[in-house]
Amino acid sequence: MIVAPSILSADFSKLGQEVIDIDRSGADWIHIDVMDGLFVPNITIGPLVIEAIRSKTTKPFDVHLMIVNPEKYIDQFATAGSDIITVHYESTVHLHRVIHQIKDTGRKAGVSINPSTPVIMLDEILPYLDLVLIMSVNPGFGGQKFIESSISKIKKLKEMIVSANLQTLIEVDGGVSDKNIRLLKDAGCDVVVAGNYIFKSNDYESAIRKLKI
Ligand code: DX5
Ligand code: ZN
Repeated sequence: MIVAPSILSADFSKLGQEVIDIDRSGADWIHIDVMDGLFVPNITIGPLVIEAIRSKTTKPFDVHLMIVNPEKYIDQFATAGSDIITVHYESTVHLHRVIHQIKDTGRKAGVSINPSTPVIMLDEILPYLDLVLIMSVNPGFGGQKFIESSISKIKKLKEMIVSANLQTLIEVDGGVSDKNIRLLKDAGCDVVVAGNYIFKSNDYESAIRKLKI
């Protein structure tokens, strides 16, 4: 399992040090939640902050854009130091165009779906994606309860990926902990995002280790 701690739950007053700490504690990717107060009811961070923490680790930056009109900002997020850029299916009318825009920057491209969006909506775009991010909470905040029906979505998506003979990774985001990691793994999940479970623990290393199954 690839583990991507979400810095949304980190202590922002010492963000650089937090990134160094999770890197040393075994994080595989660094998950960065970008929110604009329009697509989701919260405002977080933008390219400036990503640029500022880029030098703190060599681990991939997994950037989750929860913003409207993501096409306007792809270049900025790529230049700031993103390795993977994920946009929401629900945030743009021209998903195919945005995905190619991301690929043109040389970064990996992902699409995320909200809990109410069925995985079948990704049928046409799937061959172009490096990863699919299944939201297992409604996006906007850390520390929410895992929505159980996400498990059947992961299983359905895994079937689509296998039957199309693709290598697309399945990432799950929201309410992930040691309580549901086995279910997630068995359903076909490759990458987990975890915010509160890691950052609110007093031992990042042990929390990350419990997710690496
Ligand atoms: C929610 C974000 C998540 C969130 C996960 O909109 O996309 O990445 O920070 O936090 P936890 O693991 O606390 O649910
Ligand atoms: Zn996220």
